[in-house]
Amino acid sequence: MDMPERGTTGWYPVVRAAEVGTTPVPVGAAGSAYVVVRLRPNGEVTAFPARCPHRLVPLAAGHVEDGRLICPAHGWRFDGEGRCTTVPSLGDDGCPPPRADLRGPWAVEERYGWVWLAPEPTTSGPPRPAGDLRPEPGAELPRPAGPVFDNLAPALANAWHPVELSRELRPGGWSSVRLLGCTWNLARDAAGTVTVEPAVFGVRERLGLIWLAPAEPADVPLEVPELFDRRFVAGWLPPVRSPGPAGPLADTFLDASHGPFVHATTIGAADRAEVAPAEVVREPGGFSSVQEQWVDNPVDPEVTTGGRPLRQRRRTTYTFRAPFRLCLRQEFLDSGAATTLLYLLQPEDLDSTRIYTCLLVSAGPGQPLPTPRSLAEQVALQRRILEEDVRSQETLAVPGLPLDLRDEVHVPADRLGLALREALCDFMVAERRQQRAA
Ligand code: FES
Ligand SMILES: [Fe+2]
Repeated sequence: MDMPERGTTGWYPVVRAAEVGTTPVPVGAAGSAYVVVRLRPNGEVTAFPARCPHRLVPLAAGHVEDGRLICPAHGWRFDGEGRCTTVPSLGDDGCPPPRADLRGPWAVEERYGWVWLAPEPTTSGPPRPAGDLRPEPGAELPRPAGPVFDNLAPALANAWHPVELSRELRPGGWSSVRLLGCTWNLARDAAGTVTVEPAVFGVRERLGLIWLAPAEPADVPLEVPELFDRRFVAGWLPPVRSPGPAGPLADTFLDASHGPFVHATTIGAADRAEVAPAEVVREPGGFSSVQEQWVDNPVDPEVTTGGRPLRQRRRTTYTFRAPFRLCLRQEFLDSGAATTLLYLLQPEDLDSTRIYTCLLVSAGPGQPLPTPRSLAEQVALQRRILEEDVRSQETLAVPGLPLDLRDEVHVPADRLGLALREALCDFMVAERRQQRAA
């Protein structure tokens, strides 16, 4: 057969044409990753780059609707030319930024029963095969060009990290935990004191967890007053492991625009896709932000009795403390009921993060405490929501949170995500300052 030219010019057979339908197929050409898909049943084949420019989600996980490829994370829509036609968080009148457009290969052609890609401009068409064709090998998903904040960032040594629920380590017991790519052995003596091998700067118990600081901490503690408020009852979710770094996970927990897409089967179906830009208040060690939204509140008992509508006003206060501690307080303004979600992340290894989630629930002023049954139902719902977030991380396949803003495309709904990137950069600076002072 005529071999395609090597390098990045020339034509590359990537997949048999019959194997391409309206589900995106990941392919490789000249070492670059793409997806090919038909935007209409039996229509022509279109090729896109492998990642969405917004938060780098692989477009192989996307789907086709009305002649558009739709990213699964926040529903951005792309036409056959790669133009981004819709950014749902901008609302119906929103105009996608020009950088949101996709840059695919120079050309795609269906010829001789195969789909061919030309990554760069070339003069001729696909060469006629003289024998059996084999598809080009798949290519790795591209990494961000700039630096990323990953689970082994040296600055992370100078912070407190959760490593186990306090109740997981009983008196007389021991366990091994992973943190920052290393193994630490914990033991609790009969008097309840926890010791650690090899030695660390500090070990302590706080917020129901055991925390380690490998070196002198430069972080600011997260305060959770609800833990000491008698109107709240607390329920821990079983710790969950996410096969990826903590930074993008924290980004997801702070993200108000993924609900209708990632949580469509739990809480997101009725969420408005449009997200008003949030004000962010910088605070020592992180930031906070208050947002109001209309959402469904199926766990409100008054909804079942018809005392209140399903659709209710909710105020959410996000509090973030670097490196990976988040508190989301959600208050239903009509009933006064409040739910606080605490996400505390343990960066175990480059590709592993353990997630501790605590739910603190109050039925509102003058109301009896939530019953164990209603708490259990809310914990079960949060478990399903968390599973959806972890599944979305599984497909993401990035080495860490991109810190160079040019590696992604940002829209007004991403203000908390931008504040996260800034807070992690500040955290690295604080750690370096502390190192110099030591
Ligand atoms: S829409 Fe693709 S990552 Fe957000
Ligand atoms: Fe989520």
